[in-house]
Amino acid sequence: MSSEHVVLKIQSGPHAGRSFTFSQPDSLLLGRSSRAHVRIDGDQHISRNHCLIEVRPPKCHIVDLDSANGTYVNEERVTDRWLNDGDTIRGGETQIAVHLANGIIASQQSPPAELGATRVMTAVSQPEQIAKFLLDCEVGRGSMGVVYKAKHLVTGQVVALKLLSSDKCVNEKMMQVFMREAEILQKLSHKRIIRCLDTGADDGRLYIAMEFVDAIDLDDVLKPLSLKKRTHVVLGLMRQILDGLAYAHGQDLVHRDIKPGNLLVAKDNGRLNARLADFGLAKNFADAGLSQISSEHEIKGTLSYIAPEQIVNCRFAKPTADIFSVGATMYTLISGKSIYNLSDHETPIATILNNGPVPLRERAPDVSRSVSKVVDKALAADTADRFKSAEQMRRAIEKLLQ
Ligand SMILES: Nc1ncnc2c1ncn2[C@@H]1O[C@H](COP(=O)(O)OP(=O)(O)OP(=O)(O)O)[C@@H](O)[C@H]1O
Ligand SMILES: [Mg+2]
Repeated sequence: MSSEHVVLKIQSGPHAGRSFTFSQPDSLLLGRSSRAHVRIDGDQHISRNHCLIEVRPPKCHIVDLDSANGTYVNEERVTDRWLNDGDTIRGGETQIAVHLANGIIASQQSPPAELGATRVMTAVSQPEQIAKFLLDCEVGRGSMGVVYKAKHLVTGQVVALKLLSSDKCVNEKMMQVFMREAEILQKLSHKRIIRCLDTGADDGRLYIAMEFVDAIDLDDVLKPLSLKKRTHVVLGLMRQILDGLAYAHGQDLVHRDIKPGNLLVAKDNGRLNARLADFGLAKNFADAGLSQISSEHEIKGTLSYIAPEQIVNCRFAKPTADIFSVGATMYTLISGKSIYNLSDHETPIATILNNGPVPLRERAPDVSRSVSKVVDKALAADTADRFKSAEQMRRAIEKLLQ
């Protein structure tokens, strides 16, 4: 087993004696709901979705899901907290002891030294060259880092180069996992998918070179349109995206992070051309141990596009989760609103798990029934009620466009 691991040992309550050992990123949902990994029946102090423990060995984080009777760490009621070695979690009668390997303190940001070859990144404010790429200008920023327009020094090919932010520590093991996964993605070749061209590290900073798209701001295009026209444009874009998705799913690859920000749209001869960016990147990050924890996700609003089963199980990567994300993207592009009624008084994950999406026609009553039916089907809580495949959803959209 890896030297970085987390052990959660249930000490009391109906599951006393069970123990969970994690050496990879994972999550554990406690509650009475059928989704829960630790399903606790017969304890009226436990809510349906009580709390979510997220593990990123050797770190561990807990979020209370607005439970009626509270989640406690060392008998102190918490809403959201990083856990330390030796902490005790309690919900109702269930007590869980937290063991972080080697007594590492959760809030430490650097991986342990024994993993070797760990390089803490030095901030490079404006690098000019990364590996064999000459940087031209910054094109955007996301949660993982900065994206530059760049040129290959030898071939002159123009690329988009995503440079992992300097506060992320990457060790050799993470790098190997990441590169191995990226190699698989480099084989994806479809006109609706931004090609991953190269990945590597320069001075310990991970970079990903991909095809460059001179993308337009989708909001600028959609906002001035009438609802009817906007819906029509969005349907056309989704048809394109689902075409790429069906191809990738056919290769057993899931995107895991479909959202408006990962839709790059270019205007070619007056026509909108959509392509999916960052294919599989979120999964690669999770596998390499670099992924975010949901509390950080919440700030960025990314949670609104992730299937609920993927939120409670960060290793979940099934095509039906991508279908949900396409539905959420479509919903937001049409209505301009999040699929959830998120309020300041509730923890977003709790609202998501407890209430689910607001039906599209409640948000935008003028959207036609046939369109809302497709969107709401993609967003069904039960994966069995969603479209069975990207191709099936694409065909449903095709019909709407006729
Ligand atoms: N291949 C590309 N070609 C051109 N521009 C790109 C490319 N990839 C990303 N960008 C630009 O860089 C911006 C930031 O992208 P990035 O993937 O880092 O963040 P994001 O997808 O918006 O959010 P998150 O980090 O939460 O996934 C994008 O919004 C887009 O404008
Ligand atoms: Mg992106």
